[in-house]
Amino acid sequence: MAEIALIGGTGLSSLKMLEVTHREMVQTPYGPPSAPVIHGRVGGREVVFLARHGSGHTIPPHKVNYRANIWALKNLGIRKVIAVAAVGGISDDAGPGTLVVPEQIIDYTTGRECTYFENNLASVTHIDFTWPYCEELRQSLIDACIRTGVEHVPHGCYGATQGPRLETAAEIRRMAQDGCTIVGMTGMPEAALARELELCYSCLAVVANRAAGKGEGEITMKDIERALSEGMQSVRKVVEAILPVL
Ligand code: HPA
Repeated sequence: MAEIALIGGTGLSSLKMLEVTHREMVQTPYGPPSAPVIHGRVGGREVVFLARHGSGHTIPPHKVNYRANIWALKNLGIRKVIAVAAVGGISDDAGPGTLVVPEQIIDYTTGRECTYFENNLASVTHIDFTWPYCEELRQSLIDACIRTGVEHVPHGCYGATQGPRLETAAEIRRMAQDGCTIVGMTGMPEAALARELELCYSCLAVVANRAAGKGEGEITMKDIERALSEGMQSVRKVVEAILPVL
């Protein structure tokens, strides 16, 4: 049985190197996940794949059913989750096409269903979230980046915004002052829900664009798509390199 899952974000709605064995629509107490879970193998290693924004990339970040997605993976017996996510680069070293393996998060999202611990509780529960990502998996991702020679930044702070609009230049200046080095719309509550269900969860972020006010002119979808298709080739290399050693 697969113990490793990949959650694919913008630019990774399918995984070409995955030899698909079957698709499964998982039911959860929180409703349906974004898409059927795809079971398969990469280089002989069993893995499951879930498209965060749906198979046709139609679910915007604030409408993703994060609770159903993470619950579905946990119920399939998954222990480790690699969350691939497109982001904007705030720090100078996070240029388009670069991979970032963040170690911190600041949550700026609002109004999302963000916990499993709210009803029918035996007692109020607070998870430790000092270090929001699984450090062992984070190090394996960094090792895989080094072995494959892909351009990467082995640290960072992911600022999670509500979207679906991009940020203003002033919001990005404030986020930079807060310590954020990348900005994305899906990092939370996904990471916290994974921790609540005791999954080992880390993020492999792909920089699609310089964040608002950090590059020249407006951010266009065309530029984002170009950088993402380059970055996703790096993601594929890293995924192929990491799976045999996890
Ligand atoms: N901001 C938020 N989310 C993003 C961005 C951005 O600039 N680029 C890709 N996802």
